[in-house]
Formats: sequence, C-alpha cells, structure tokens
Amino acid sequence: MNVLKKYKTPLFFIGVLSVLWFFESSFSYKYEADSIISSDKKAEILLSKMTLEEKIGQMNQYNGFWDFTGPSPKSGDAEKKHQDLKNGLVGSMLNVRGVKDVMAVQKIAVEETRLGIPLIIGFDVIHGYKTISPIPIAEAASWDLEAIQKSAEMAALESSAAGINWTFAPMVDISRDARWGRVMEGAGEDPFLGSKIATARVKGFQGENLSLNFTIAACAKHFAAYGFSEGGRDYNTVDVGTSTLYNMVFPPFIAAKDAGVKTFMNSFNELNGIPATGNEYLQRDVLKEEWNYDGFVVSDWGSISEMIAHGYTKDGSHAAEIALIAGSDMDMESYLYLAHLKNLVDEDKVEIALIDDAVKRILKVKFELGLFDDPYKYCDLKREEEITGSKEINDAALDIAKKSIVLLKNEGNLLPLKKEGQHIAIIGALASDKTSPLGNWRLAADDDTAISVLEGMSKYKGNLISYSKGPDLTIGKTEFITQLKINTGDKSGFKEAITIAKEADIVLMVLGEHGFQSGEGRSRTDIGLPGVQQELLEEIFKVNKNIVLILNNGRPLAISWADENIPSIVEAWQLGTQSGNAIAEVLYGDYNPSGKLPMTFPRNVGQVPIYYNYKNTGRPNSPGPESVFWSHYNDEKNTPLYPFGYGLSYTTFNYGTIKITNSFDLDQKITVSVAITNIGKRKGKEVVQLYIRDKYASITRPVKELKGFELLELLPGEKKIVDFELTEKELGFYDNDGEWILEKGDFEIFIGGNSQTNNKTTLELK
Ligand code: NOJ
Repeated sequence: MNVLKKYKTPLFFIGVLSVLWFFESSFSYKYEADSIISSDKKAEILLSKMTLEEKIGQMNQYNGFWDFTGPSPKSGDAEKKHQDLKNGLVGSMLNVRGVKDVMAVQKIAVEETRLGIPLIIGFDVIHGYKTISPIPIAEAASWDLEAIQKSAEMAALESSAAGINWTFAPMVDISRDARWGRVMEGAGEDPFLGSKIATARVKGFQGENLSLNFTIAACAKHFAAYGFSEGGRDYNTVDVGTSTLYNMVFPPFIAAKDAGVKTFMNSFNELNGIPATGNEYLQRDVLKEEWNYDGFVVSDWGSISEMIAHGYTKDGSHAAEIALIAGSDMDMESYLYLAHLKNLVDEDKVEIALIDDAVKRILKVKFELGLFDDPYKYCDLKREEEITGSKEINDAALDIAKKSIVLLKNEGNLLPLKKEGQHIAIIGALASDKTSPLGNWRLAADDDTAISVLEGMSKYKGNLISYSKGPDLTIGKTEFITQLKINTGDKSGFKEAITIAKEADIVLMVLGEHGFQSGEGRSRTDIGLPGVQQELLEEIFKVNKNIVLILNNGRPLAISWADENIPSIVEAWQLGTQSGNAIAEVLYGDYNPSGKLPMTFPRNVGQVPIYYNYKNTGRPNSPGPESVFWSHYNDEKNTPLYPFGYGLSYTTFNYGTIKITNSFDLDQKITVSVAITNIGKRKGKEVVQLYIRDKYASITRPVKELKGFELLELLPGEKKIVDFELTEKELGFYDNDGEWILEKGDFEIFIGGNSQTNNKTTLELK
C-alpha cells in the first residue's frame, strides 16, 4: 500500500474546511474565505485585529513539557507556560510530539484564546522521525539527490502524522572541521554539493504544496557560519572574511531560499564580533533585503539571552531590543520577547512596524501550512498509527542507507564476502548495538530499534558466524541530554575477541563512535577510534590479518594505522533504523557501494581544518628535498588520508580524456565531456565529478572547486559519455562586496572520480 496516496488530503476538503472555519468562527478576524486572497493578505488582515500583546505572543516559542533539546528551563516554568498559552501569548511550541500531545496544546491555542490562532509545532526532524534514516553527513555521501529528497519526504510524512508541521532542518552549515560534533548534521565541506543537497531536502520536506497534511515547513539553519567555530569547539567564536562568507557559507542558504524554504534559524556563534542573533547585517541586510526573503527567522535555543554572555547586550531587555532590530522574528526559549517587547515599544526603543513585520511573516507561514483551514489536520490518531514505521518509510530508509556507505579500501578484494563456507568472526560492541546506529538527533525514535550489524549479517545463512562484543565502548547512560562516558581502561573483553578471531576466515570489526559522540555539544580534540578500540584492532590484527573494518561514526576519523594495515575499510557512519541490513547487503555484494566522501578525512587531527578547496599559498611546493621554507608540516604530509569525493566500488571505472567544444567564449556554449567505462565485472554506480581551477583572479581562488557531478550506473563493459555545460555560474565567484563576478583568464577543468583527479583540460576565457 502506498501510504502517501491514501492519506493525501483532497484539495476540495481543504476548501470546504476553510470556508467553514472562517464562517463558523466567531473570532473578530473573520473574513470571507477566498482562495484568491493570498496568505500575505490574510496575515495582514489578521494582524490588523491583534493587540500588541497578542502580536508579541506570536513571536514567542516555548519548549514543550516533556523533551528538552537545550539547557532545561527553570522549574516552575511549565505552569507559566500553560497560562501564557491560554492567554494567547504563545505562537509556537517545539518538542511537543505525537497526536495526543499536539492536539492538547493546539486545542488550548485554538479554543481558549481570544483569536484562536493555531500554533506552529516545531521539532528537530533531522534524519527521520520514528523511523531513522542515515545521519545527514552519511546521506550526503550518497550524492544521490533523488534519494535524499525522498528521505526528507518520508521524514515529513511520518512526523506530520505525529502532529508536527515544522522541522528545524535542513542544517546547511558548511564545515571543514571534523572536531566539530555537528558535522554529522550537515552535508560536509563543499558549498556546491551542500547547495544541491539543501535544495533536495527543502523540496522533500515541503513538497509541492505546503498546505497538504503530509508536508511540513523546513528551516535553513544556522544562519550563519556556525560551522566555522574556532578550534571546532561548539558555540565558539567565528571570525571569517567576506570571501569565505559569500563563497563558502552563504551558497547553501541561498539554495534553500531559492527552493522556497519557509523559515531560517539564526545561530549561537558570534560572527566577526557580532552574535548572529543580533546581527542586522546577516538577517536584515543580507537575508531579508539583498535576498528578498519573505519567510521568518527563529532564534536558536536561548540565543537571544545568550547575547548577554557574549558581552554584546547589557541585560534581557537590551537583548530583546537588539534581536528584534536585527531581524530575529521568533524567540526560542529565551522568554525575552514576551518579557520586554511591550515595554520597549512603550519606551520608543523599538518600532511597532518591526513587530508587525515579524508577526506577519509568522502568520503567513501558518496560513500557507493551512493551519487556519484545519488546525488539527496533522492530528489524526489512526493516520499516526498507520504511517508510523510503515513499510514505505522503512524501504526508503534502507535504500538511502545502502547508498550512503563508502568503501574506503579493499585490498586483495576481500570484499564482497563469499556467501558460503566461511567462518566470519564479528567483533565490537557497536556490532550488536541497536541504539548507536540511530545516531544523534533522533529524539522521537525508541532506543534499541535499529537493525544491528549482527542482525543484518545473520540474515545470510550460508556462513558460520561467531560474535564477541570485546570491550565495552561506553559506560553507563547513553542519552541525548548528558555527556557520554567512554570506556578507556577496561580490556576484559579482549581475550574472547582474540580467541574467536584466531579461528575465523574473516574478521569483521565494527568500531568507531557511539551515536551520541557527535552532534550538538559533542566536539572532540582526538578524532581517532575512541577508548580501547585502536588497541583492540591492533591485537586482533596480530592473530588474523583478514580484517574488514566497518566504521560507525558521525564525523571524519583519523585512522592512518588502519589505512596502512587493514585490507578492507568500509565507512558506514550511523545509518539509522535499517543500518545492519544495509551494511550486510554491501558486505555481501548485493549492493555495490557507490558513496563518495562529502568531507576530507585527515591523516591526523593536527591537519584539521583540512579541505579539498584550499588556497595554494605562495609556497606550495618544496624547493628541494631538505628545504623547510615552504608551506608544510615537518611531521606530516599536507595531503589527506582520503580526499573529498573519494570512494571505491567493487568494479572499476575508467575515465577518458576530456573533450571541450570551445575553450574561450562564454557567448557560445562551452560543453566539456568525458567518456566513462565500467572496466570491471560488476554493475556499479559512479559519481562523476567536475572541478574547476581559476588560475589567477582578483581574489585568489581555491586549487579546485566542485562545479558539477552526475551519478551514473554502468553495466560491466558499458561506456557512457557525460556532458557538463560551463556558464558564468560555474566560472564566476563572489567578490569582497558580495557581487558575483566573472573574470577572463585561464582555467583548468578536471573530471574524475574524486577531488584529487588529475584528468584535466584547460580553458582560456577571452
Ligand atoms: C539547538 C540547536 O542548535 C538547533 O539546531 C535546534 O534546532 C534547537 N536546539 C532546537 O532543538
């Protein structure tokens, strides 16, 4: 059964409801329901009926009463929140989920307040809701935009059936720092790939028609530059120049805006001395004026009040004043708009026009969602029951999980595994873990609901499987809200693991990070295998060299020893509910791995930040073997362990030489093409990547920039030609005034299977 079809709300039903709603309603903002009236106009009419208190109420977002995704509020707040809700002083709630609970708060807003304005219900639907898909960085590794869009569509379907109508996703922060825990939530280091993925995710969540009951409003976050925190420490200071801001940070936000994203979230960090939440340049000058954005901006959790700690505002009232003036429309969990905006208006410190603008933006999104037509449209218990965990959603989760896996090394073709006659030892606490594969940001999913590697492998019956957990990875509680404790000393599990490894033909070692070791507030200075896992790997290697290392992690790890010694390495991230099934299919070759890294893997943490689109410097090469006077480290290479865009397959692809139609004139079409041939014995997929290098420019350009890619499937022996068109969009860049410019001169064009390709041609724009 296709649940999507079954539960689509017929359009005529929405129409009838809207007529009834507006005519039956005794509220003072009643006007004739007319589909010709735009949401904008409707918001304006409603706004004209509101008191100042009611307006400020719309700008106030409260956390619910059960889950927390930030520092818990003071005790006693629940009572006040209830009271404020009844008094029409709440416009949105987050972390209220499930039809029953959403219905309860929505009923108060709709039936007990003077105007009955429905709440918009926000939740971090980051990679699935109850059914969890791979963490976003893993999905990005698929480079499969259709599958990524579908994954967001399924997340919207499942969460909307649980009463939610607004997700705080996609996170589109570019980051080059694997120490930062939140790289798991984004699409990696590249603005081009990041922009394509931002578009796919927004389209997936919001669909073609936001007013349907299975689409939800999306939120591009965190505006801006949150991923550039100093030292990769979460919430830390950001200082980046205009060129980085425009060419690296902004593009995915622009893509999300162009895809129609309904909301933006600002960020915790300060940017060049001004907190993003109080940053007028970011929110008004760039977002609302330059980009003409007409959705609303929500603050991050408590980020308005945090401006006091930043040293930017004197007190709460000052923070509310600055945030509003800067363009933050909704206050998430600072309580400061509610506490101070009225006084600030009375004291002439803020103009009421700014409040009107913010409220109009918020109401407009509520109208677009169809909440005024039917505030309970997401609240159908039967629908919730049938959709939650449905086959369609799980099938999509499995599909994207397989596509997210990246084969990093496969010496001697240890993989794919033979399906019969082998003794396979599986080792590692993560191999049987059914919670960790869900990753972080999976608040609505129940623990122990992921298919473990052990379970996935056990479905294949032809081999003998033995399992040893080895040492524990974690100690005590593993949960979202508290710091995780890693086992750094107890090696009591080593003995049994070594015993089973000795007897096996192949050893699968499932090692890496627990799902709660990355995510918000989870920055690390050591990005090797945590705890005693590296030691375990080396001990097992002493008794059996046929090891397949299956990595579970939320960020690039520094695994140089493994790369030197272990024959096969599979990057399996945290793949969600279907994790074990996806991994087993790849290990057994039922799915030929096709993922490519969206983020560079360093040789060691000292290289971080390391990224493929770096600048050349004036001293890029060694003048002689002994020379020290060039840009390098004395104790490590400059190159990464695995570059951006890298990933192997069980087959091999051959790239032909690049052909170019004309290499100088943008007024005529410039097409570059290359032939790709599958020269191996299996069907496989390849992500064909095009990079440019602008050799000299008025602002120096990176040594490579991704400007196109195509996902191809080829049968053994099959050859296909891939064409890319180069236009001003691919060859230009933003200058330091934020203007898009194109400069004549020399370019190199590369096409290959990862960012280190040397398959190139040249172009001279005249
Ligand atoms: C703080 C996080 O930074 C943000 O991404 C999230 O959406 C909010 N908390 C709400 O949970």
